[in-house]
Amino acid sequence: MNILAIGDIVGVRAIEYLKQNLWKTRDKYKIDYVIANGENASDIHGLSSKDARDILDSGVDFITLGNHTWNKRDIYAFLDANTEVIIRPANYHGSAPGYGYAIVDVQGWRVLIMNALGQVFMEPVGDPFDAIEYILAREEGNFDISVLDIHAEATSEKYAIARAFDGKIDIIFGTHTHVPTADEQILPAGTAYVTDLGMTGPRNGVLGVDTERTLTKMRMHMPSQFIVADGEIRADAVIFTLDGDKGTGIKRITF
Ligand SMILES: [Fe+2]
Repeated sequence: MNILAIGDIVGVRAIEYLKQNLWKTRDKYKIDYVIANGENASDIHGLSSKDARDILDSGVDFITLGNHTWNKRDIYAFLDANTEVIIRPANYHGSAPGYGYAIVDVQGWRVLIMNALGQVFMEPVGDPFDAIEYILAREEGNFDISVLDIHAEATSEKYAIARAFDGKIDIIFGTHTHVPTADEQILPAGTAYVTDLGMTGPRNGVLGVDTERTLTKMRMHMPSQFIVADGEIRADAVIFTLDGDKGTGIKRITF
């Protein structure tokens, strides 16, 4: 089975890009299931229900989120109504809209998909280690394959989480930084891991954000409303191949 994980979708032009290119990529690499991080799809900050539907129409099967989950209010009801195609980080409060994991059917396999936020250099949130441990214990015996999107700033924290759950989760990938890392690997106990997928968005900016707006904030320390950069769009992604006794394969692509 081939699972494609796509880096943070930045802006609605990136959704259009997926509509035009994702099915070709699915065919080329014989992809069975696509997971994408959508938390920056609606003008960098958050995801509206309309844009969530458009992402799902583009060929993405499942959406994960991150620290901008709550920016668009209409996603709250969408999270509660579409639990089989979208989750938010598990280490938000249990009473928050949506769920932090889902178990989906992919070709008869029960695939557990989890989403968690890091704590380092990010807003306060519950302990991701505890949240992941809780899900694995609660759903023990109810899934065949497990996947985690760890949405975090610090590479060290993502590595630590991957090491903590090596052999307990089949696939762990990082999101949030928008920069793909060249450390895709199979950890000692068999977990396929990459620190960050990268992004689906415009290259002509700073992590997908307009360069001038970024410099106004970073260099002049003045208020600056971020807008999506212009220019060519590309999608960073990783293919995870689950091949029974042969273990898991991992391959980075850009399309
Ligand atoms: Fe983020």
